[in-house]
Amino acid sequence: MTETLILRELLAAEPGWVSGGAIASRLGVSRVSVWHQMEKLRAQGFGFEAQPARGYRLSRRPRMLHMGLVEAQLKVRRRGFTFLVLDEVDSTNDECARQLAAGRTAPFAVFARKQTRGRGRFGRVWHSEANGNLYSSFAFRPRIAPERMQTFTLWMGVTICELVSRFVPVAPGIKWPNDIVFDGRKAGGILTEARVDADQIRDLVFGLGLNVNSPPSDWPAELGRRAVSLSELAGEEIDLNRLTAALIGRVLLAYERFIEGEHVDMFAELWNKYDVLRGRDVTLAEGGRKRRGRVLGVDDVGSLLLRDDHGRTRCFRAGEVTVEKGG
Ligand code: BTN
Repeated sequence: MTETLILRELLAAEPGWVSGGAIASRLGVSRVSVWHQMEKLRAQGFGFEAQPARGYRLSRRPRMLHMGLVEAQLKVRRRGFTFLVLDEVDSTNDECARQLAAGRTAPFAVFARKQTRGRGRFGRVWHSEANGNLYSSFAFRPRIAPERMQTFTLWMGVTICELVSRFVPVAPGIKWPNDIVFDGRKAGGILTEARVDADQIRDLVFGLGLNVNSPPSDWPAELGRRAVSLSELAGEEIDLNRLTAALIGRVLLAYERFIEGEHVDMFAELWNKYDVLRGRDVTLAEGGRKRRGRVLGVDDVGSLLLRDDHGRTRCFRAGEVTVEKGG
């Protein structure tokens, strides 16, 4: 798209200028067509400084997600990957499922500025206002055994920690299985869903909600103490479009590594780096039962290792963990 190419030229020149003529000849279009595209971009929240002798310079970018701006910032363009940015959708996970069912070629991703029925784990609501937060889902057709999905989700969790740590000055943590947390407050959550044939995953949707730019006053009262946004931690607005471009790069690379089985050593190392539960006394709620114990870490596939009061260690594939007071 010409729009993306123009943005790429302007971004590459930053903080310098680039002439309209140079953009036009590089893109093989007329100067008038460049000018028209820039007028369209202005209407979408971009600002351009123009000086007759120097050309153009980007002076303002939209705060909300913008497809062209995300695309222009992709470092590596992977063949076959496509994505869409929607203004509003019920749930990006549901949109991915619909598009998969309609036969769209995977991998692809769906981003939305707002969700009307954002979903969390255990059927919970994921608050999804149009407030500068990220609502994203990636769709894959992996053809792997269903048991591998748990490891995939945990591997993606540490991948997101790696990403987030580039955008804020404090280290993120991961709370098993996949909450992204800062000092006990949640900044992001992951909802992975799959359709399974007899012995293989047919398609897989990796959903990520990340509190990026929502002001603390935006949270419903009961969430306020438990949630945090990246901008609060950084003390300034986060560039959502840059973050999204970086997310696409990381998720696609992590997926490839996982499929090729190259993630194994990295997974153990990264999990230990970000794990906030190791050594803590916790209660695990799982299938209507509650179990107490001390977290020893996770095993190779990402199951939680819990040692009970009798010194017995057990591993758990699923559940919700609450840290005991003082634990
Ligand atoms: C959780 O921690 O409970 C998981 C939250 C996952 C939320 C994301 S937002 C994008 C995607 N679409 C959804 O409906 N849910 C996930």
